[in-house]
Amino acid sequence: MSRQPLLLLEHHYRGHHPLATLRYLFAPHRWRLAGSALFFVVKYSPVWATPIVFADVVNIVSSQPSIRDFSLVVEAGQTVAVVGESGSGKTTLMSLVIGFRRPDRGHILLDGRDMETLDLRQYRRHLAVVPQQTVLFSGSIRDHITYGLSEVPEAKLQEVLRMARVDEFLADLPDGLDTDIGEHGSKLSGGQRQRIAIARALIRDPHVIILDEATSALDVISEKLVQEAITELIRGRTTFIVAHRLSTIRNASRVLVLRDGQLIESGRHDDLIRAGGEFAKLRNFQV
Ligand SMILES: Nc1ncnc2c1ncn2[C@@H]1O[C@H](COP(=O)(O)OP(=O)(O)OP(=O)(O)O)[C@@H](O)[C@H]1O
Ligand SMILES: [Mg+2]
Repeated sequence: MSRQPLLLLEHHYRGHHPLATLRYLFAPHRWRLAGSALFFVVKYSPVWATPIVFADVVNIVSSQPSIRDFSLVVEAGQTVAVVGESGSGKTTLMSLVIGFRRPDRGHILLDGRDMETLDLRQYRRHLAVVPQQTVLFSGSIRDHITYGLSEVPEAKLQEVLRMARVDEFLADLPDGLDTDIGEHGSKLSGGQRQRIAIARALIRDPHVIILDEATSALDVISEKLVQEAITELIRGRTTFIVAHRLSTIRNASRVLVLRDGQLIESGRHDDLIRAGGEFAKLRNFQV
């Protein structure tokens, strides 16, 4: 059988169909030689409308556990806001979701499969990361948003620019979308940079979003526009947010409070405030 129909099958059945499985078995790059033994590595593409499960995850950074016995079920489409003091493990938790770090003990399951068995490159294609600090290199705004993608229909790009509230400042730039950021980057505000990062995530239409909200204060208008862009981005997608903004925390399906790598509280914003525990205390300081 030629490669194309099998590829289609694989796409259609996402690895469930026996023929798709056959393709996995016979793809040469899945064979790995180790010494004289022949090992067979079957990688799997997850089905996305299923929960992400953390089961007793421990992650050790420089011989200290930075995440301890972390267990959680995140349903598809939920927004999980992660809060906690500096060093409590928020970024470490995000790195585990991205696959930059691996559990030293315990498991992260997607579609019931251990993330260890996933093809991470495949997995990351369905994941977008919006970092805390958006670093912009030289190149046009268009290049920054569409980087690594072949053929983006203009209509799709325009829609994303609207959703991420990038269109709002394009008219002020000398060449609009084709303005070189290397020359004009320093003139972009923090909020504008964040919206470019959000547009870049949106256009990839990811299933999972990792968002590290910037702590830096934005002016009121910029704050509102960034919040609108975030709302568009996370709608209907499984989202993990290191959250500082009250609006994201308040609307989250669940707020997780970390301390010393441990999940000490979890619940909806209003319930946690009512409970008057750690989150209520933290919020008095942070938000
Ligand atoms: N590269 C590293 N080397 C050594 N220790 C690290 C490293 N990265 C994280 N840690 C440690 O792991 C723990 C968790 O750090 P993490 O960066 O996840 O915290 P955080 O909640 O994201 O903090 P912040 O709010 O400051 O971003 C901390 O004790 C930190 O010192
Ligand atoms: Mg951090």
